[in-house]
Amino acid sequence: MAKTKATFSCTACGNVTTKWSGRCEACGEWNSISEDSGISAGPAGKSLGDARGRAVALSDLSTEETPPPRTHSGMDELDRVLGGGLVPASAILVGGDPGIGKSTLLLQAAARFAGAGLKTVYISGEEASAQVRMRAQRLGLTQAEVRLGAETNLRDILTTLDQERPQLAIIDSIQTMWADNVGSAPGSVSQVRAAAHELTSFAKRKGMSVILVGHVTKDGQIAGPRVVEHMVDTVLYFEGERGHQFRILRAVKNRFGPADEIGVFEMTGSGLQEVLNPSALFLSERGTPAPGSVVFSGIEGTRPVLVEMQALVAPTPHAQARRSVVGWDGSRLAMILAVLEARCGIPFAGLDVYLNVAGGMKVSEPAADLAVAAALLSAREDAALPPETVVFGEISLSGALRPVGQSENRLKEAAKLGFTSAIVPEGGKMSGNGGLSLNRMADLTAFVGETFGA
Ligand code: TYD
Ligand code: MG
Repeated sequence: MAKTKATFSCTACGNVTTKWSGRCEACGEWNSISEDSGISAGPAGKSLGDARGRAVALSDLSTEETPPPRTHSGMDELDRVLGGGLVPASAILVGGDPGIGKSTLLLQAAARFAGAGLKTVYISGEEASAQVRMRAQRLGLTQAEVRLGAETNLRDILTTLDQERPQLAIIDSIQTMWADNVGSAPGSVSQVRAAAHELTSFAKRKGMSVILVGHVTKDGQIAGPRVVEHMVDTVLYFEGERGHQFRILRAVKNRFGPADEIGVFEMTGSGLQEVLNPSALFLSERGTPAPGSVVFSGIEGTRPVLVEMQALVAPTPHAQARRSVVGWDGSRLAMILAVLEARCGIPFAGLDVYLNVAGGMKVSEPAADLAVAAALLSAREDAALPPETVVFGEISLSGALRPVGQSENRLKEAAKLGFTSAIVPEGGKMSGNGGLSLNRMADLTAFVGETFGA
């Protein structure tokens, strides 16, 4: 019988190797490699054990069972991002940059869920109870039925939760928690992983929902909550630009609802306020139509959102021209510049290009291609697009324009906000024009010719 090979892994970064060494090759940590003892890695011939799990045919599963009722916080923006309220016994991770407003959001959410009848405990590992209470005062939540705890030792927290038996526990933040049976420092990957594992499995066992707060750093990791993402049902990111008051809560993974859903909030002196009409907010900073500014009608999750794409194109003083993007994908910008050059004969060599999505929004849809191309051309030609016009459509490498999904919703949202015309790809089925006059284009060359007369 083949001998099962032992594996080793690093307790600091999780890297798996086949041999022991004094220093981890991946992260450079000393004395962090230990042998993994897998269940099936026992001596040859030894049985795995007698107990077995039971497999059931999918068709035998009863469809009679109704799903457990979800709890609505009453904050529509939060409930929608959760997929329609909080699912009992679910585990949720809320990640975001330090200082973006996670503790504020979750304290407000805790108060709302408690108000909706859930027994809620808020455990802060970062602030003392008195500080949390001061924040609650500022948010006008001193009367909320939320139990507060200030602890970092995982064993104590689990004991507290076992006694209190809440239906919802909020842990702020997972980086401050430490399990005394794990050797490394709080905030290290193995501590974060151990704490998240203990808390989520405790929650599943006891039928309690748990919300874990996790800090991410700008460059992604440093014991970031990435290791936790696999253990939870739902991953939400709280994003926003420091200088802006808008905050976006985005679902990136959700076992109980659509991913890519967003909730929009505004940070005010008395906490986060919901923004129920984000299109109006993102366009509110718009003045008269200017060269380089184009309104894109996008879809975020289940909801259409209008955003302004801004471009600036200027001769470069440097040997190498700059390409700078905020809120969109840099390689997608490079592709569009290449298509404009190769298919339409419009060069951007020697020109600095800046692209910005207004209001701190992040757009990831390919449907924004045409709006980006329009903004770039408008900036380059110093000519504004016709006023009250929205643009959407995907650009292929051949320069052809491809129709995109949910066109009618995009058009309706634009009509609602007072737009009167739209530039869209030809072809594809479009069940209605939402009341806008449509300018349909087959390819980028036609668009350039018609809009900029080049
Ligand atoms: P916080 O929730 O502590 O951020 P995080 O938990 O993500 O680190 O929020 C920090 C910022 O929010 C802080 O700079 C102050 C600001 N803030 C307001 O503007 N209004 C408020 O009502 C509160 C409570 C905070
Ligand atoms: Mg905080």
